[in-house]
Amino acid sequence: MVSCRPMSQSAKSMNDLFLRACRGETVERPPVWMMRQAGRYMAEYRALRAQHDFLTLCKTPELAAEVTLQPVRALGVDAAILFADILLPLEAMGAELRFQKGDGPVFPNPVRNRDDLERLQHPDVEGTLGYVFDAAREVRRRLAELPRPVPLIGFGGTPWTLAAYLVEGGISKHHAHLLAWSYGDPEGMLRLLDRLADVSIEYLRGQVEAGAQAIQLFDTWGGLLDAERWRRLAMPSVVRILESLPDVPRIFYIRDAAHLLPILAELPAEVLSVDWRMPLDAVRAIIDPLQPTGPKKALQGNLDPGALLGPIDEIRRRTRALLQAGSGGPHIANLGHGIFPMTPVENARAFVETVQEG
Ligand code: CP3
Repeated sequence: MVSCRPMSQSAKSMNDLFLRACRGETVERPPVWMMRQAGRYMAEYRALRAQHDFLTLCKTPELAAEVTLQPVRALGVDAAILFADILLPLEAMGAELRFQKGDGPVFPNPVRNRDDLERLQHPDVEGTLGYVFDAAREVRRRLAELPRPVPLIGFGGTPWTLAAYLVEGGISKHHAHLLAWSYGDPEGMLRLLDRLADVSIEYLRGQVEAGAQAIQLFDTWGGLLDAERWRRLAMPSVVRILESLPDVPRIFYIRDAAHLLPILAELPAEVLSVDWRMPLDAVRAIIDPLQPTGPKKALQGNLDPGALLGPIDEIRRRTRALLQAGSGGPHIANLGHGIFPMTPVENARAFVETVQEG
């Protein structure tokens, strides 16, 4: 009888389009994945979520791994992103965190000044966030069983974006507390951002050690700052984090930040991920001439997630236009921000398929 030994990872054909595009190599077609690809727009996710709250999903490695793999199986995306949240390290630092239905994340005791800052601890990262690392190991184990394993992306928030939630106490319209602190006591704010960076470095390194093959940093709220303030407040801790990552591709995501592109060109990241407000060829025209010598940055993005709520033939047309706009250099097809929970799954599939048809 023929024995059924599992093929070794190297013998098996691995789908490494995503990693090659991150490194700026020429690839057969752009890889595609979607921010927030594991989530409520999928029936499989809603079914699990009906039984467990969000933090339980994050903290149970088998469940987190299962949810991570749902979009890989259902949509055939070219990369998996670990199911977790950027806010988990804040909880590990001692900030109570709740996810309330309808309200999103809530920090009942926000950190709004230097005195509050003293309440934050530097945690034992392995002890408090080890569940994320266990989930990454479990995802890699399960990915290896697929006929064509895809790479696993780990992630975290930038210190400024983490502060946007921790200082406000949750989702905020105007970020008045964050702005008040950053204008009133910028040195104190920098101290907070530094403390967040210290923990983020260990957290992201832990993800890579557990099997994450690329790291994406989310700066969802970086665009609140003008260029001079982004450089002074947000950038130092971002550069420190990016420079302390082990040797994996680094993706920097930012929203609402066309005014920051000349600064972003300087970041030590292989990939820049942008929102939908500017076409990718226009982004490249700004950043390419400004980059230090060496390979040019790959771009990731940037279909408006709202476009996935429109008719399928329009989604296909816009996706082809996106591929055209991205074709001047290495491109990873993605959305410009997370997919909306009300997106029909067949619309998400039309986006992925159109990219994969080439
Ligand atoms: O599939 C994936 O992309 C991986 C998982 C992932 C989640 N959050 C799971 C999640 C990722 C990469 C994130 C990143 C994240 N989390 C960001 C940066 C990206 C962005 O959206 O700007 C931010 C700002 C957060 C913080 C956060 N988590 C908010 C503001 C919310 C509430 C809004 C919402 O979409 O519900 C969350 C909750 C959250 N994080 C959900 C998921 C799947 C929804 C939880 C649920 O099922 O109710």
